[in-house]
Amino acid sequence: MCYKPSAAPTETADLMQLATRLQQLPPYVFAELDRKKGALQAAGMDLIDLSIGDPDQPTPPPILAALARGAADRTNHRYPPYAGTRNFREAACGWMERHYAVTLDPDRECLALIGSKEGIAHLPWAFVNPGEVVLVPSPGYPVYTSGALFVGATPHLLPLRADRGFLPDLAAIPAEVARKAKLLWINYPNNPTAAVATREFFAEAILFAKRHNLILAHDTAYAEIFYDGERPVSLLQCPGGMDVGIEFHSLSKTFNMTGWRIGFAVGNPAIVQGLAKMKTNLDSGVFGAVQTAGIAALTAPELVQPIRASYQRRRDCLVAGLSRIGWPVTAPKATFYVWAQVPNRMSSAEFATLLLERAGVVITPGTGFGAEGEGYVRFALTATKERISEAIDRLRELL
Ligand SMILES: Cc1ncc(COP(=O)(O)O)c(C=O)c1O
Repeated sequence: MCYKPSAAPTETADLMQLATRLQQLPPYVFAELDRKKGALQAAGMDLIDLSIGDPDQPTPPPILAALARGAADRTNHRYPPYAGTRNFREAACGWMERHYAVTLDPDRECLALIGSKEGIAHLPWAFVNPGEVVLVPSPGYPVYTSGALFVGATPHLLPLRADRGFLPDLAAIPAEVARKAKLLWINYPNNPTAAVATREFFAEAILFAKRHNLILAHDTAYAEIFYDGERPVSLLQCPGGMDVGIEFHSLSKTFNMTGWRIGFAVGNPAIVQGLAKMKTNLDSGVFGAVQTAGIAALTAPELVQPIRASYQRRRDCLVAGLSRIGWPVTAPKATFYVWAQVPNRMSSAEFATLLLERAGVVITPGTGFGAEGEGYVRFALTATKERISEAIDRLRELL
């Protein structure tokens, strides 16, 4: 029988009314800042944009060549397999084996994604019922909250504070909230705080997930952007991680591929297959040629080294420069972000506006990632070292 909506809208105004799930989203805090940025740009001001979490460098040539090969392959002109091609999943599992000594079954424990955002947004649809709770870090990537709201769940915010190394205090979650929780999001290396998590924290999170019978979802989009030779930990290499966990990997930041939309999820087979079932009903998989390019990327880890090294030079330039002008910040161990405390009594939005209007330097107010981001701003190292040095010169005059 055909599906019939229960009540047909009668007036155009009703028809155009956004659904409650969209209306309940938190307000877009960057609107005013975006407007000012647009106006200054239109007036001809030279803006140095350190606000965007999107690499400024091009995708490495071997990956481009693989895309061209994949595009010429006729099998890629048809619908791709929902879960990703076997070759792509094998490459992703090979990556996990080489980097983390984690052995995975490409058929049951790995899934290609149209960017990790797609999987992150869809995970609650597969596992969370209306009225249940999703535990979400704050400040944090906004999709954890919107994904929870879309399925009628309640996001419960876990503050990330400097005194705890920007790790959530799981012991402080009220018993009643933990009882209703179905999913716990963690994200290390972290956006926006740039923190990395210890093995002890992963052990604690795994224990918490087991005790409360919930899914532990680790977003590790920045796993490859690490400095000083210290590779961040994967949830799946920790004892018990596979029992409760799913991990989201992205090729976006690692290989300058944000525009290509490719990532993968790995972990507990029941969780991965639940997400796969959701995807089967929603999308038709990643374009086969993009997966061919993804294989070229995942099997050539040497491509990452120069990308990582260039962010390290930029990081060192920014951190040393800010320190020279009397604004000391912590050098991040990973990610291409620097999370800096506002150096005066202004709110993070006021301070970001001041830097924009008076110095033409664009940074992100911490409140863009949730109320707990107040008192901080985020710099993205997605501009050249020369532009970062110029930004420091401008800030010296202003501060
Ligand atoms: C923490 C975090 N997770 C996931 C993503 C999504 O990345 P993608 O969908 O490009 O893989 C982003 C993008 O900015 C991010 O900052």
